[in-house]
Amino acid sequence: MSHLIGIDTSTTATKTLVITADGSVVAEASSNYEYDIPRPTWSEQDPRLWWDATIASIRQAMSRSGIDPSHIDAIGLTGQMHGSVLLDRGGDVIRPAILWNDQRTAAECDQIRDRVGRDELIATTGNDALTGFTAPKLLWVRNHEPENWSRVVTVLLPKDYVRLRLTDELALDVAGGSGTGLFDLSERSWSSQVLTALDLDRALFPETHEGPEITGGLSTDAAEATGLVAGTPVVAGGGDQSANAVGVGAVAPGIVALSLGTSGVVFATSDGPAIDSEARVQAFCHAVPERWHMMGVMLSAAGSLRWFRDVLAPGVDFEVLVAGASEVPAGSDGLLFLPYLSGERTPHPDPNARGAFVGLTTSHDIRHMTRAVLEGVAFGLADGLDLMIGAGVPRPDSIRASGGGLRSALWRQILADVLHARIDTPVTEEGAAYGAALLASVGAGHHVNVDEATTRAVAVVPAAEPGDDVEHYRETHRRYQALYPALRPTFEELT
Ligand code: XUL
Repeated sequence: MSHLIGIDTSTTATKTLVITADGSVVAEASSNYEYDIPRPTWSEQDPRLWWDATIASIRQAMSRSGIDPSHIDAIGLTGQMHGSVLLDRGGDVIRPAILWNDQRTAAECDQIRDRVGRDELIATTGNDALTGFTAPKLLWVRNHEPENWSRVVTVLLPKDYVRLRLTDELALDVAGGSGTGLFDLSERSWSSQVLTALDLDRALFPETHEGPEITGGLSTDAAEATGLVAGTPVVAGGGDQSANAVGVGAVAPGIVALSLGTSGVVFATSDGPAIDSEARVQAFCHAVPERWHMMGVMLSAAGSLRWFRDVLAPGVDFEVLVAGASEVPAGSDGLLFLPYLSGERTPHPDPNARGAFVGLTTSHDIRHMTRAVLEGVAFGLADGLDLMIGAGVPRPDSIRASGGGLRSALWRQILADVLHARIDTPVTEEGAAYGAALLASVGAGHHVNVDEATTRAVAVVPAAEPGDDVEHYRETHRRYQALYPALRPTFEELT
């Protein structure tokens, strides 16, 4: 029987998923790793961790599945976007990859705006220069580590380093390409205009492919390492956000998706390159051919809750922490939390933005603080959704939400109240790896296109309806929105 594999190279783990051609999950395995924070707001990872975790998770998932490797028809790849993997002439990694949530490149972003022109940059790439993107990371290495830069022959994204190790092929998907800041969004290919303005050689960047397209077959070495069969096709796949959207069936205009993991994302598909002229929300190519998407990205969403737990209640289960939060009323008795712990991207593209609790009194305890964190993240997501609505996305009645944060019934309810929409969750909650496996199933010819694959495989169930607290949250959200402009000068001084 035909099976497919999806591999997600995320920031904290590599996950391998084995599914049937009709989308049923057969087995799953994850292999965890850490990322380094060499300085506050910097973040790096050694690409070799991803390869080791790929081998470990494939071997474990395959052994759990009990499937003969010859029954794997194709493999789909996804992973954290924007990270810079720099390879030398021999294909070796030159320095640790600088990750999507690294904030060191504010000066390089200014340099990009100067050289390309901000309006031109937005019109071409769909986005302003953002610290998390790949382009400013390349300029940073060129400016600060000329030794390293002189050795760079190839630039890859994290999942495409895994692709290289699996297939010996250099290739990228268009969704990932459009997250570099060097892509012509309408053309779905590298922008010679931006590359020239930044003095970056086109030869550094591999060809890009649509999500379900096959980019190569498993090499003999990779087959030996993973236990799979040499020649098994590997499809392009997509960056984690677009693959996740495939996994929850958000592949056509009208469906809004939300993901609540380390980062928090609101996501809407379009038939054409929809660009906000002020670039307050991001515009990328979808992993679905001939589709694009807009999204708002918070850098610390469920990551804020993890930080809070690790610092203030180490060792306490999330369920226990959140149970406490449900004992205090909506609005946390006047306590507000700003979730900009890693700087922010949407709605404030500001690497200097910082987190804050505002309104603390002696009557507040850890329950209020926890609830304020859940609410602050929901307000941040609502800010992203409002910006997308302002840029032309119709206000949704329902939102397809996924990610670890959705395990909390309280957080689901807060999201429904704050975003004023029904929250639906997918029946199969396997995230981006599931979308990557569905893209592989299209590449293997099991479905004529991604729409057909998701219609057959993806189902959602209602998980929360807007309730009595909608009005209360509208008011609290307004107060929350007043905080960033008021605190911004202080944030700047602090950094
Ligand atoms: C998307 C983004 C994050 C990372 C991490 O633009 O930066 O979703 O891909 O997962």
